[in-house]
Amino acid sequence: MLLLCAADRSGDIHHCTYSEKTFWPEMASVNPSLLLLALLVCGLHCIHSGQVLVNPGEYSHWQNMRVIVEELVERNHSVTVLVNTASPTVNLTRQERFRFHLFNVPLQKENMTALWDDFVDLWKYQMNGTGWQVLSKTSDLMASFNSYISVICKALVGNKTLVEDLRRSRYEVILTDPFTPCGDLMADALDVPFIITMRITFGFIYERMCGQMPTLPSFVPCTPILATDQMNFRERLVNFGSYFMHSAMFLLHTSKYLSSVYSEIKGKPTSVCEMVGKADLWFIRSHWVWEYPRPFPPNFIFIGGHHCKPAKPLPLDLEEFVQSSGDDGIVVFTFGSMFKNLTEERRNMFVSALGQIPQKVVWGFGGERPRTLPANIRIYNWIPQKDLLGHPKTKAFISHGGSNGLYEAIYHGVPLLGVPLFADQPDNIFILEKKGAAIMLDFYNMNSDDLVKGLRAVINDPS
Ligand SMILES: *[C@@H]1O[C@H](CO)[C@@H](O)[C@H](O)[C@H]1NC(C)=O
Ligand SMILES: *[C@@H]1O[C@H](CO)[C@@H](O)[C@H](O)[C@H]1NC(C)=O
Ligand SMILES: *[C@@H]1O[C@H](CO)[C@@H](O)[C@H](O)[C@H]1NC(C)=O
Ligand SMILES: *[C@@H]1O[C@H](CO)[C@@H](O)[C@H](O)[C@H]1NC(C)=O
Repeated sequence: MLLLCAADRSGDIHHCTYSEKTFWPEMASVNPSLLLLALLVCGLHCIHSGQVLVNPGEYSHWQNMRVIVEELVERNHSVTVLVNTASPTVNLTRQERFRFHLFNVPLQKENMTALWDDFVDLWKYQMNGTGWQVLSKTSDLMASFNSYISVICKALVGNKTLVEDLRRSRYEVILTDPFTPCGDLMADALDVPFIITMRITFGFIYERMCGQMPTLPSFVPCTPILATDQMNFRERLVNFGSYFMHSAMFLLHTSKYLSSVYSEIKGKPTSVCEMVGKADLWFIRSHWVWEYPRPFPPNFIFIGGHHCKPAKPLPLDLEEFVQSSGDDGIVVFTFGSMFKNLTEERRNMFVSALGQIPQKVVWGFGGERPRTLPANIRIYNWIPQKDLLGHPKTKAFISHGGSNGLYEAIYHGVPLLGVPLFADQPDNIFILEKKGAAIMLDFYNMNSDDLVKGLRAVINDPS
């Protein structure tokens, strides 16, 4: 049973109604904007004890989803997270306040990590390889990604026993990441509404082609081209061409393949966008602090920075190290959890640059350690990034430009030295550079002087 309350603008609840199980589908079919309105007006806090099924992403996508999941649990919802047996991210042995529902996939953890490593590698090629290498890598990767989607979808929605098990649990809504296949098909199979949470897809393919988001090529830059909303004629032409290419690639490749998988599972012709487009809400991990002004459909809700929280105290040894930096303060440096393979040459470049600055450096890095390390640098396998960024001694953040870290830096007012590696990272840093919060360096071509100069500017230049 669900409880829906209306609240006035000050947030005081003055009217509540009860509704039976059919609440969600009814609302959704009657008018999605009504559902949105209800959520906006009353906030999640007055809808009690829903049953939520979560189809999580991997790596940082799961960390993002987790923030929402924990908040739902906090508000007394009962949450179940679907995990496949090959997931490289979700730690099943950890004690959690939500349930896991494990399902079998005919894959090993190694297959999955290899796929994601390839994804990272592709971007290295894109920065550094020849056109032909990039093309052949891209098509390899798309093929393995497609087969991954097909395998997971069949193991998930193609397994009638599993679907029946889930149906019996009477979920009321599904929360899904579009990078994890088939949350939409599962919602369809269980006949419940679903919410997509995501940051962005390239060329806004999903948002545009499935979610009806308007993207006017005259002033909405097509990620990933580095452009602002102020484009000249040539840039607009390139922008238009870029949208065109993304659409063509999607229609000729991804959508064609996925639609065949979807059709096979549903047993009738079904396109991907037909299913994805049924999403009732899209939680977009973005924010106007970051975006250029542009139109969005009303069921797109901005949750960028949803994971930002005031800093907690650091572990004692780290706090001691941070305090030892005196007035110079510290620099926080990490390329995130996915990137572990720095070549020796690049490692030495970072070490020699960071050894020259007066600040202490807290470096989160899980890969092979440099042979010698200047006294002002400490390397940790894992660092409490949020808490470090919120520390009053933190002067700068060297980041690969993953959106989570950037939002934390914005939240705590820490300027950035961005060294983008792959995916949306170049765009992220580009935008922040344009807005005066960051300096961007090129990972493959920078040298230690560039890094030192960049850091000095970020730390000392009051602009
Ligand atoms: C999973 O969680 C358990 C319990 O918190 C912990 O001991 C273990 O190291 C974690 N495993 C990984 C791979 O993070
Ligand atoms: C990038 O290209 C240069 C020159 O072609 C090469 O020496 C270097 O190893 C490449 N780096 C990576 C990471 O592929
Ligand atoms: C289908 O799901 C059930 C219940 O989760 C599981 O026991 C069974 O092994 C699955 N079948 C296949 C082929 O994976
Ligand atoms: C790490 O980099 C080295 C040298 O570039 C390469 O030989 C090795 O295969 C890489 N390892 C992984 C796991 O990517």
